Amino acid sequence: MSNQPTKMWSGRFREPLDRTFEQWQRSFPFDWRLLPQEVAASKAHAQTIAAAGILTPDELAKTLEGLTQVAQRPLNWAHRISATSGEPDYETSNQQIEAAIVASAPQAEDIHHYVELELTREIGALALKLHTGRSRNEQIATDMRLFVRDSIDLTLSGLHRWLSALLTLAESAGDAVMPSYTHLQRAEPVLIAHWLLAYVSMIERDLSRFIGARTRMNFCPLGSGAVAGATLALDRTIAARALAFTAPTPNSMDATSDRDFMLDFAQAASTLGLHISRFAEEITLYATAEFGFVDLPEAFSTGSSAMPQKKNPDLTELARGKSARLLGSATALATLIKGLPLAYNKDLQEGQEQIFDIADTLAGLLSVLPNFTRALKFRFDPMQTAATTGYLNAMAAATYLSNKGLPFRKAHEVIGNAVRLGLERNLELNALPLADLQQLSDYFAQDFFDAISLRSTLDCHNVIGGTAAHRVAEALAQAKDRIAHLSIPSTAEHPDA
Ligand code: ARG
Repeated sequence: MSNQPTKMWSGRFREPLDRTFEQWQRSFPFDWRLLPQEVAASKAHAQTIAAAGILTPDELAKTLEGLTQVAQRPLNWAHRISATSGEPDYETSNQQIEAAIVASAPQAEDIHHYVELELTREIGALALKLHTGRSRNEQIATDMRLFVRDSIDLTLSGLHRWLSALLTLAESAGDAVMPSYTHLQRAEPVLIAHWLLAYVSMIERDLSRFIGARTRMNFCPLGSGAVAGATLALDRTIAARALAFTAPTPNSMDATSDRDFMLDFAQAASTLGLHISRFAEEITLYATAEFGFVDLPEAFSTGSSAMPQKKNPDLTELARGKSARLLGSATALATLIKGLPLAYNKDLQEGQEQIFDIADTLAGLLSVLPNFTRALKFRFDPMQTAATTGYLNAMAAATYLSNKGLPFRKAHEVIGNAVRLGLERNLELNALPLADLQQLSDYFAQDFFDAISLRSTLDCHNVIGGTAAHRVAEALAQAKDRIAHLSIPSTAEHPDA
């Protein structure tokens, strides 16, 4: 269409745009990533306006076919790229597609404009009917919801894989023990499985946050128009259904300017990032010579160019660092939305790259964490030694005295004295002679030594959520059951694309 204006809005303008401004305000160099979402939403809109009599059945068929072609073109490039450069390398071909698609349409202002231009190349003037009854404001709101929804679904399946890896690791640790820490000082012995299940709990909360975000966001803005609602009496349920949304959004002003779903996603991602960074920090620490609790898998570590002896925990360090990006993006989004008057404002375009970065960061993290976790090797002996030296059974010892009838406050005091005695003689509590203990309290008897054995020290935590061996076995079985029955929404394929 040689006489098609190069802009979607040039009618009322007489002066050309400043060239630098024109380039600067374009979003196509990054929003090209929304191509699958834009095509799916456009197909849904085509069905809606066909039902309203704007497109004949034949025009609808042509439009849908044309849109399929537009969506497929970059895939054809990918095939061509991999055919010329041998094995398709995911990263490289993605970057090449990016470069190719952006260079292919220097006049495209954004993804909406790009699809319109490309569709016009495919099906001619008919393409220009597609914009009947819609606005880019509702389109971008829809595209971003679809993108976030896909990204949530990918995240959920990644989290599922990571949870399975943690559970496998917990299972293989059996009854092996480690010290727990408070204030990063040795506290009480716990089962390694119990420690791992702490992360399972965190990640299960993350899962529920993502699922909650998905449920809240799953409403379709199409039909909201630019701000006040479509100017045609469209049946909005058609598009909502075609795109697997629960229902149309209830208010056009909110729908075109709402980015809560992006914030929700970003905040869920930040919290997940915090959990990942805590896990990463613990592994980094436990892999030091000072702790010596875990051997880093070589396949996931790097060496030093200077110090030949080094095996560095780059994976956990980077994972810890990625949480900064996630938090940064969530903060950027919140700041972007703060104080924006209703309804659409161009500021919102700035939020897209934050979401893309979050999606890529999560996808990257979850592509390495499950296999890394499965490959971790615990050094059980030093862990057990650390769990059994340093008076980690002192609380169990005080409990022994209080079970005998001494008020706990008193018992605490007596065991404190016993620890002091042990420190002076360089002996653990179980190595102190009974006679010496009895100097401190009459309540000590021979059964004291059983009561402070490693097994008893663990098993006295016999409560739901405690580290007693059978409680941990129960918790592990329940977690496995929950994870096995998790229902992960499966999209990332557009129902209508
Ligand atoms: N590229 C724009 C964005 O990301 C699309 C919406 C443009 N709407 C407008 N009224 N200029 O927000």
